[in-house]
Amino acid sequence: MNQLQEYIHINKERFLNELCDLLKIPSISADSSYKPQLLQTAKEVAKALEKAGCKNVQQIPSNGNPVVYADKIIDTSLPTVLVYGHYDVQPADPIDLWDTPPFEPTVKKTDIHPDGAIFARGACDDKGQMFMHIKAIEYLIATNQLPCNVKFMIEGEEEIGSPSLASFIKEHAELFKNDVILISDTGMISNTQPSITTGLRGLSYVEVEVTGPNRDLHSGFYGGAVANPINILSKMITQLHDDNNKITIPGFYDHVYELSEKERTEMAKAPFHQSEYNKALNIDEELGEKGYTTLERSSVRPTLDVNGIWGGYIGEGAKTVLPSKAYAKISMRLVPGQDPDTITQLFTDYFVSIAPKSVKVTVKPHHGGKAYRTPMDSIGYKAAHKAYSETFTNTPIPQPSGGSIPIVSLFSDVFKSHTILMGFGLNSDAIHSPNEHYGLFNFYKGIETIPYFYKHFTDLYKQDA
Ligand code: BES
Ligand code: MN
Ligand code: MN
Repeated sequence: MNQLQEYIHINKERFLNELCDLLKIPSISADSSYKPQLLQTAKEVAKALEKAGCKNVQQIPSNGNPVVYADKIIDTSLPTVLVYGHYDVQPADPIDLWDTPPFEPTVKKTDIHPDGAIFARGACDDKGQMFMHIKAIEYLIATNQLPCNVKFMIEGEEEIGSPSLASFIKEHAELFKNDVILISDTGMISNTQPSITTGLRGLSYVEVEVTGPNRDLHSGFYGGAVANPINILSKMITQLHDDNNKITIPGFYDHVYELSEKERTEMAKAPFHQSEYNKALNIDEELGEKGYTTLERSSVRPTLDVNGIWGGYIGEGAKTVLPSKAYAKISMRLVPGQDPDTITQLFTDYFVSIAPKSVKVTVKPHHGGKAYRTPMDSIGYKAAHKAYSETFTNTPIPQPSGGSIPIVSLFSDVFKSHTILMGFGLNSDAIHSPNEHYGLFNFYKGIETIPYFYKHFTDLYKQDA
């Protein structure tokens, strides 16, 4: 065991207990009644950073939840790493489907995590992963081995699209100035095959409302003679894809970055088994855009999905009603080349254009963000590659992700630095779902790998200079 492994070994229990204390606080950003818990979590994160040996710890107010800042500046001539993470979590519902309560962290073994995994909302996304960084810094400071400067930005609104962060980072651009941004809020292929996330998709999220008659009607008196907004909305939604599962919105694909044959061949090298994928989801067959593989469809191709649809009577029994309104929430995942505002406008124009005169349609934009790609020739990517190579038996492979962290593309605009996505979660960790969990192996391996990033980044930075 080297010094780092020994430090982790000795402090294993304490690290886990400290994480559990954070996981016990329901910091659900989507629900405003949890505001006190968000403030409490920010306070606990600030305390943890203080305890790790960081300086200038602050809970900086924003238009929404506070952003936790901390730093350890050892020498201004050395590079600065900015660690980003989020302390807010997704709502826990449906609560009934959790085997143990979402805010009572419990360690259990699973087939994929034979050493145990911690079950709780936020265990993987993102408290568990964010906390690895605090512990890695604790080690580096305690043993006097921090090779460069570090700053932390831990926010509390990621799960609602970071609505306050865009103006916040512009306002505090000087404070958060950095040479590279490091984030653990994504995943890797498996515990034996690490990967570095090289891309995130962008997002355009809208809510649509279709209104028919001015009130709910008796479906016997009026049904068949007046437009039923649920029938109409369903039909409009089916018109958004063609038979090849391509999105029909005019202009939608106009600036989409198409992978070269070489890039596609590279991507296809990642280990992937369609049959296992289908089996894990209990589906007989996959479905997606014609001409692309499952890995491509779920990472480098744009998509459109209905996230929720409602209207009319959904209570017990039957009620004969022709509803006045129908609603849907629709998300579009975007790839490089697509601008979220433009896409939202194209969607709106098209959606309104396909509505019959018998209904009125409104489209309300929610959050959005551009896609992001990490350049593989950057010193940040190279440092991450070296870091994984030190702590895993297999070298990491690059893999674009289908998920989104909307603020990341703005980071590169404001700070002119690259973001390195060192995620240690697994797809099977059920983030956003009931029984979210995070492997203990992943938690400790993350703490072990992160210090090597600092070391290699600093070395490469000096060589570059
Ligand atoms: N950490 C996730 C994003 C993620 C997870 C990216 C795994 C890649 C792999 C983040 O917290 C998240 O949930 N993002 C949302 C968007 C946000 C605006 C709610 C998403 O991707 O749906
Ligand atoms: Mn996250
Ligand atoms: Mn999330």
